[in-house]
Amino acid sequence: ALISMRQLLDHAAEFGYGVPAFNVNNLEQMRAIMEAADKTDSPVIVQASAGARKYAGAPFLRHLILAAVEEFPHIPVVMHQDHGTSPAICQRSIQLGFSSVMMDGSLGTDGKTPMDYDYNAGVTREVVKMAHACGVSVEGEIGCLGSLETGMAGEEDGVGAEGVLDHSQLLTDPEEAAQFVKDTGVDALAIAIGTSHGAYKFTRPPTGDILAIGQIKEIHKRIPNCHLVMHGSSSVPQEWLKVINEFGGDIGETYGVPVEEIVEAIKFGVRKVNIDTDLRLASTGAIRRFMAANPAEFDPRKYLKETVGAMRDICIDRYEAFGTAGNA
Ligand code: G3H
Ligand code: 13P
Ligand code: NA
Ligand code: ZN
Repeated sequence: ALISMRQLLDHAAEFGYGVPAFNVNNLEQMRAIMEAADKTDSPVIVQASAGARKYAGAPFLRHLILAAVEEFPHIPVVMHQDHGTSPAICQRSIQLGFSSVMMDGSLGTDGKTPMDYDYNAGVTREVVKMAHACGVSVEGEIGCLGSLETGMAGEEDGVGAEGVLDHSQLLTDPEEAAQFVKDTGVDALAIAIGTSHGAYKFTRPPTGDILAIGQIKEIHKRIPNCHLVMHGSSSVPQEWLKVINEFGGDIGETYGVPVEEIVEAIKFGVRKVNIDTDLRLASTGAIRRFMAANPAEFDPRKYLKETVGAMRDICIDRYEAFGTAGNA
């Protein structure tokens, strides 16, 4: 059944678990996520980005998610719109039947320009009013995602601030977070702790100075009842980087957010954990490996099936590690 984000995250807080929120663009991702959830008895958050809407189109995405609900009626599913850059975009998603939307007012409508507190609180409040009237949940964001090593947002295209950010923007301030929750009434709050979107998050395995799990503890102390969201939370599995590079790929040395650090964060109020890149890496690795071993194969179902299996294994791992398993 389709449920709101609020319903799911309230349950997650009560029972102390976190929920991975996987981005979906196509049938194979949707199937991998649902098969993993079915196998581990986990509730599901699937999210559609602006890039996903551009690729698949909103109707296809919507019906892909509704098809998942139909095939797996026993699994609760949140249909979430990721990184909305304006109230108008969120309104369209609400009209389309999304049960949750993110208003990311930390950046402007271009998805790049860092905005000030008053703008962010204003647009987010507007979306909360609209969404709550329809039973739809809202995620807001305070602080800007970006690397504490370089000050850069990480991703070139897609959602991410442009230019170099300073330390105060890259680490969410607990007082400001508390004020924001009070001013807007959001159901969940995305925070900045040094993660960034995409595969290039850290140039070395992250330590506390560049992945600020300690900051989450400070924020949680200040707003213990708020559901916190971690973006840019792919772990960038070294084994998949190896497979990609072994079979003709060229991805440089890079590190993601270790699963055990996310597990630690879940003890301090993190309830939603956004993951996109890991599924991209797994499907690319699976296709490269299959193509190398089966050069005469030309049925897309053969290699796309490989991607489903590879992505499903990652989803199962995250459902189990975050304590989501058994809570459907
Ligand atoms: O927000 C970032 C997600 O990884 C989505 O990326 O806009 O390329 O689909 P995308
Ligand atoms: P990753 O790029 O780390 O998978 O993050 C995805 C995300 O935060 C989507 O909003
Ligand atoms: Na989101
Ligand atoms: Zn994000």
